Amino acid sequence: MTRRILVVDDEPLIREHLKVLLGLDGYQVETVEDGRSALSALRSRPFSLLITDLRLPDLDGSELLTTVRLDGISVGVIVLTGFGDTQIALDAMRAGADDFVTKPFEPDHLRLLVRRVLERRQLIDELESLRRRMRQDYSFHNMVSKSPRMRKVFDLIEQVGPLGSTVLIQGETGTGKELIAQALHAADASRRRGPWVAFNCAALTDSLLESEIFGHEKGAFTGADKRKKGKFEQADGGTLFLDEVGDVSPTMQAKLLRVLNSSTFERVGGTETRKVDCRIIAASNKRLEDEVRLGRFRSDLYYRLKVITIELPPLRERTEDIPLLAAHFLDKLSTKSTPPVTDIDHEAMQALLDHPWPGNVRELENAIKAAVAMADGTIIHRDALPAIIAPGPGRRRGASLIDIARPLPDVAGDLVGRVEREYLSRLLVKYKGNVARCARHSGLSRRSVTQKLQKYDLDRTVYREDVYPDGS
Ligand SMILES: Nc1ncnc2c1ncn2[C@@H]1O[C@H](COP(=O)(O)OP(=O)(O)OP(=O)(O)O)[C@@H](O)[C@H]1O
Ligand SMILES: [Mg+2]
Repeated sequence: MTRRILVVDDEPLIREHLKVLLGLDGYQVETVEDGRSALSALRSRPFSLLITDLRLPDLDGSELLTTVRLDGISVGVIVLTGFGDTQIALDAMRAGADDFVTKPFEPDHLRLLVRRVLERRQLIDELESLRRRMRQDYSFHNMVSKSPRMRKVFDLIEQVGPLGSTVLIQGETGTGKELIAQALHAADASRRRGPWVAFNCAALTDSLLESEIFGHEKGAFTGADKRKKGKFEQADGGTLFLDEVGDVSPTMQAKLLRVLNSSTFERVGGTETRKVDCRIIAASNKRLEDEVRLGRFRSDLYYRLKVITIELPPLRERTEDIPLLAAHFLDKLSTKSTPPVTDIDHEAMQALLDHPWPGNVRELENAIKAAVAMADGTIIHRDALPAIIAPGPGRRRGASLIDIARPLPDVAGDLVGRVEREYLSRLLVKYKGNVARCARHSGLSRRSVTQKLQKYDLDRTVYREDVYPDGS
C-alpha cells in the first residue's frame, strides 16, 4: 500500500521540494499551505505522516498538533523548525510530535527520518489494535479482567443473572462488588428496564435505616412531614442493592429477613402491609460466615442471602489484572490530559505489581488518576506514582527479607518495619487517611501514628476522600 504524507508549509518552494523528494521514495504526497486546510485534509482522509512547519500563517504547528491528537487522529508527525527554534521544537515534541528537522535540511537525513517515524507509527498502530482486541476479549459489562477466578465470576453472572434470585457478593473493599451487582441487574432481562436502587446500610442509626428502607407515613416521627417511599418500594420491578449488609443491627436483620421471606413489610408509622417484587443483591466486605460464628449476624438471614454467593478475590491474588486494569483506567482518563498519558514504563509497572493493594481496584484507579496528574509527558514513570506505592530511594521493597549475612537484630527490625508499614497503609485505606481513627483502631497514640507514617514515607493525603472525590 502506498503511504500518504501530508506536507504543510507556507513556502511553495519547500512544498515542491518535499513533494518531489518523498515522491521519489514512492510515497504519495499531498501539500497544503496552512493549518486549517491541513486539519480538513486530515479529518477527511487517512494519512500515515504529517510533516508540518511550526510557523504557519493561521495557527502554529503546536496548535495543529494538539488538535490532531485531541481529535484522536492517528498519524505520525515530523515538525520542521527554523534554525534556533529548539525550545519550540521541544514543545512540539511534548505536544505529541514524533521528531523534528531543522531547516535547511539534508535530503537524506529527512528521508531516513520519515522511514523511521513511519515504522514506529506502524508498530504503535499494531500495538493499539492488539490492545483494543485484548480489552474487548477481557471486558465484561464495565469490568475488565483476565484472571481465571474473575472469568468464573463473569460466567456465573451470565448463568444466574437472568434467574432473578438473591445473590450475596463478598469481597474486600474496592474489589468491584457494586459493578458485579450492576452486571447482575443488567443480565436480568425481566428487570433491567426496572429501577436499580443502591443503598448503603452502614453508618445509619436503626430508626433512620428503617425509614429509609421501608419508608414512612406522614407524622410517623418528628420531622416526618410527608409520607415517603422506602428503598424497597422504589426498587419495585427492579433490583435493590443492599450494600454493607454485614453492618446491620440484629433488629434490622430480623426485619430484612421478613421481607426476604414474604416480600411484605409496613412503612414506619403505617399499618398497611405492602408487597413488593424486587430482586435483592446484598454485598458485604466483612465475611458474613465469620459474623455468624461471632454471633453478630443471624444465621437464618445469612442462609437466606447466600442462595448464590459470589466471592471477589482481592487484587493481590490476581496480579495479572494489574496491567490490564491500569491500561483500562488510562483509557478512561485519556481525554482528560493533553497530550494524553498512554503508557506506563517498566519500573512504574513493577512498583504497581509489587504493591499489596489493600484498597484493591479502587486504590489502583486512584493511583492511576494521581499518576496521570503528576505525569510529565505521555508516559507514567515511577516517580509520578504516589509514594505509598513507589517509596522513595532507599526504601524499596523486594530485597531479600532474610539475609543471614546481616546481624539478627537488623534483619528482624526490617521485618517489623515491613509489617508496620503494610499494617498502616491498610489502616489509611480503611479510614481514608484519618490519623485519629487509625490511632484508635491500632491502639497507638496519634503522635506515634504520625511518626510512623513519616518513618515509612506513607502519605496519608493520598487516601483522603477529598483528593479523590469520586473515589469511594
Ligand atoms: N474489574 C474491574 N474493571 C474495571 N473497573 C473496576 C473493576 N473492579 C472495580 N472497578 C472499579 O473500582 C472501583 C471500586 O469498585 P466498587 O465500588 O464496585 O467496589 P466495592 O467492592 O463496592 O467497594 P466497597 O466495598 O468499598 O464499597 C470503581 O470505580 C469501579 O469502577
Ligand atoms: Mg461498594
